[in-house]
Amino acid sequence: MNSETVDTTSGCPISSLSDTFRLSNDQLEGLFKRARTQSPVTYLPDIGYWAVTRYDDIKFILSDKDVFSSEITLEPLTPYSDEVLSLLKARGFSPRPTLSNNEREDHTRIRRSAQEAFRPKRFARLEPYIRQLVNDAVDSFEADKRADLVDQMVYELPALVLFKLLGIPEEDVREIKMWADSRLMLSFGKPSLEDQLVAAGHLADYWDYCVKLVQQRIESPRDDLPSDMLATRGGDDSILTIEDITNVVFGLLLAGHETTTNMSGNAILTLLQNRASWDAIVDDPKLIPHAVEECLRFRSSVVAWRRLAKTDVDIAGTRIPAGDRVLCFLPSGCRDESYFDHPEQFDIQRENARKHIAFGFGRHVCMGAPLARFELVVILEELSKRLPGLRLIVEQSLQPVEAVQFRGPQELWVEWD
Ligand code: HEM
Repeated sequence: MNSETVDTTSGCPISSLSDTFRLSNDQLEGLFKRARTQSPVTYLPDIGYWAVTRYDDIKFILSDKDVFSSEITLEPLTPYSDEVLSLLKARGFSPRPTLSNNEREDHTRIRRSAQEAFRPKRFARLEPYIRQLVNDAVDSFEADKRADLVDQMVYELPALVLFKLLGIPEEDVREIKMWADSRLMLSFGKPSLEDQLVAAGHLADYWDYCVKLVQQRIESPRDDLPSDMLATRGGDDSILTIEDITNVVFGLLLAGHETTTNMSGNAILTLLQNRASWDAIVDDPKLIPHAVEECLRFRSSVVAWRRLAKTDVDIAGTRIPAGDRVLCFLPSGCRDESYFDHPEQFDIQRENARKHIAFGFGRHVCMGAPLARFELVVILEELSKRLPGLRLIVEQSLQPVEAVQFRGPQELWVEWD
C-alpha cells in the first residue's frame, strides 16, 4: 500500500491515522500533507480523538495550559481492564502524575528542581561511555560486513545510557528493559487481556525497583541522577519530596529510551537514504549537530502527543468542545509548508531546522532533549567515523515499530565493504 491507497472510506484523508502503527513513513507523511491542507483539524470517530496537523495549532495546544490539559498524556490507549486494576492495586503500585501528565501547580517546582540534576555536565560525564557503547557495537559486527543497526546497536544503547544515568547496575539492565517494553506496550500498544496482565506485573516490579533504588541512594549516595536529585532536595520537601524523586525516576524510564532508540534509527535511515548528507557528515563531522536537528524535523520518533480540551475552543475554524481529546501530530507540524520551505526535502543546512516541535513545546517540552541530542550526535560521530562507507541494504521492509504514538524502524539492515 502507498499513501494513495490507504483506506479512506470515511471520506476523511486522515481517518487511517488511528492506525498509524500500520503505516509506512511515506504513507503517514502523505496523509499528514493532505490533512494540513484539506482538514487540519479532524475528528477520528473510531478512537474518539481530534487530529491536529498544523505547526501553529499544535504549538498553541501544547502550550496553553488554560485551554488544554496534559493530564491524559500517559493514559493507556487501551483502557486497563478490571483485572489489571486489581493486580496493580494489590501490588501497591502507586505512582502519581509528576511531569508529563501533571496538571497540578507543583509541576513547575518538580521540573525546575529535577532539572538541576539534568545538567549538561552530568551528560558530558557520560560521553566516554556512549562512545564506548557505539565502538563496542561496531567491533562486534564489523567483520560481518552487514548488520541490523537496530538490534545490534540502537535498541539497547539509549537504555544503557539512561540506566547509567539512573545508577542502575548492568546486571539489572535486561530485566528492566523488558519491564520498560511492557510499559510501552501497555500504554501505547493494543495488548490482549493476557498480555496486559503480564505487563501490569512488570509495571509493578519496576515501581518497586524505583522505590528501592531511591531508598538505597538515601542511605548511600552515588554518582548518579537520583543521588543528584536527593542532593538538590537537601532534606527539604518544599524543593523535592522523596515521592517526587521516585516518580521522576519511574517516569524517565519510559520517556528516555524508546524515543531515543526510534529516533536513532530514524536519523541513520534518513541520512543513508539521502546519501549526499551522509557523505557530508563523514567529510565534516561539525555538521552533525545541525544534521540531527533536521533529522528530528524530518522524521521525528514521537508521532502524536495528547491533550484534553478544558474549554470549548476554535482551532483552524473547527470547534473542539470542552472535555474532548486531541492528538497533536508532531511530525506533521514539523513539515508544515507555511513554516518550513520545501518541507519534504531533507536538508541538513536548513536554517530553521531547530524550530521543529519533535520534542513538543511549552511548559512540558521534553526535559531530556539535551541528553537525546547529545546521544544522537555521539552515535552519528562514531558511526560515520568507523563506517564511512555504510549503506542501506536495498531489499528490506523497513517495518515500523508497533506502537501508535511512536515511530522508528524495527530493523535497519546496512552493509559496507
Ligand atoms: C529523541 C528522543 C526524544 C523525543 C523525540 C522526545 C519527545 C518528547 C515529547 C514530544 C514530549 C512531550 C512534550 C510536550 O508535552 O510538549 C516529551 C516529554 C518529556 N521527555 Fe522526551 N523525548 C525524547 C527523549 C527523552 C529523554 C532521553 C528523556 C530523559 C532522559 C526524556 C524525558 C522527558 C520528560 C521527563 C518529559 C516530560 C517533561 C514535562 O512534562 O515537564 N525524553 N519528550
